[in-house]
Amino acid sequence: MNIAIVGTGYVGLVSGTCFAETGVNVTCVDVDVDKIERLRNGDIPIYEPGLDEMVLKNVKAGRLKFSSDLASVLNEQEIVFSAVGTPPDEDGSADLKYVLQVARTIGENINRYMVVVTKSTVPVGTAAKVRKVIQDEIDRRGVDVKFDVASNPEFLKEGNAIKDFLSPDRVVVGVESEQAKKILSRLYKPFLINNFRVIFMDIPSAEMTKYAANSMLATRISFMNDIANLCELVGADVDMVRAGIGSDTRIGRKFLYAGCGYGGSCFPKDVKALIKTADDNGYSLEVLKAVERINERQKGLLFEKLKKAFNDGCTERGKTDGVALHGKTVALWGLSFKPETDDMRESTALVMIKLLKDAGCIVRAYDPIAMDECRRRVGDTVIYCRDMYDAVLGADALILLTEWKEFRLPTWGVIAKAMNRHLVLDGRNIFDAEELKDAGFEYHCIGK
Ligand code: UDX
Repeated sequence: MNIAIVGTGYVGLVSGTCFAETGVNVTCVDVDVDKIERLRNGDIPIYEPGLDEMVLKNVKAGRLKFSSDLASVLNEQEIVFSAVGTPPDEDGSADLKYVLQVARTIGENINRYMVVVTKSTVPVGTAAKVRKVIQDEIDRRGVDVKFDVASNPEFLKEGNAIKDFLSPDRVVVGVESEQAKKILSRLYKPFLINNFRVIFMDIPSAEMTKYAANSMLATRISFMNDIANLCELVGADVDMVRAGIGSDTRIGRKFLYAGCGYGGSCFPKDVKALIKTADDNGYSLEVLKAVERINERQKGLLFEKLKKAFNDGCTERGKTDGVALHGKTVALWGLSFKPETDDMRESTALVMIKLLKDAGCIVRAYDPIAMDECRRRVGDTVIYCRDMYDAVLGADALILLTEWKEFRLPTWGVIAKAMNRHLVLDGRNIFDAEELKDAGFEYHCIGK
């Protein structure tokens, strides 16, 4: 079976490589000639555990190829996936220019039956637009070629993408013909080993499923963050509450961790886009609007706690909020939006760095992987440290934003010696309050 994946971003590269792993001949296509050249030389532009080796292995086996010219490889394919970016427009809706450009190229060059599958997260109705663009080009050329469109949203998580792809909980496929269903069933057959299911449905439902799934997960997180903030006020412990409610199988244990807000390329963008789709249809998604507001507030919560810790300790009369922070040194542990990735899109760290800099703080930052990415985004406004212990040198506070494994069991004695003030703010509730207290630290976390 020959397939092409257009777009070598996160989803495209992982999907293409994993399909090749099942024995399919995959051509990954991208208009970025430099990127394709780099990929051909084994230079993988994203950080994802296990991806480098898998790309190299499949390239060597001749199952994975790269091309910057869709037109020249198009008619060798049975299936063409479109996994190009859909960046948010100013108004929050997904910008479809790349998706429709791919459709145009297909329409201009197609001369055999194939299934054109959209894998990017796109609003309901996009497959119909893709179909129209392809058909218009075919009509313009005056040829008679049949094709099908389909929707196959991707649910993989960064940092766990290969495992998610190769052992998915489910695969959702929206189709409009039996022929497309048969072809896509065959492609996903190698995954059937783990009892996993391909759920076929109509195309609009498949398109909606992705938004609804991400919005539901974001809702769970914002709900727990809201509950966490209330726990603090009434003397409850959100981690106990999580354990208590998560054992109800109707609720389940996953995605109930309170923290300093969700980020990444999906949740913020998809929640915004779904709100916009509803607004465009004259309906207001009230729950999701609150989910978004709570998340924004949560990203600034640790800064509020920091301000409070400093102003509380300030006896001078007339000192206004935040003034006490001026000139203080703050250590940040974790810059990526979650562990095991260098991705900083919508990360709490970006919000925190801005708040700290605006308050006149000196920021000493450390992340196991995302330092270059951070430099690219905020330049030299922060001090990039060698390691987690270097970051706390002379610091008046330590703030943990991302729960990388290496941060979980620090040697507090060494940190106490290095820090100027023994203040720790834990945005992911990973430290042991007793241990910190014994080591002489003032400790604040979320929801207890
Ligand atoms: C998410 C979806 O999980 C995935 O199915 C979809 O395809 C893309 O979006 P991803 O953005 O890679 O994946 O990361 P995920 O692990 O879901 O985490 C998203 C954010 O939520 C992170 O900032 C994380 O810290 C936060 N989070 C997650 C919480 O705050 N609490 C939780 O309980 C879980």
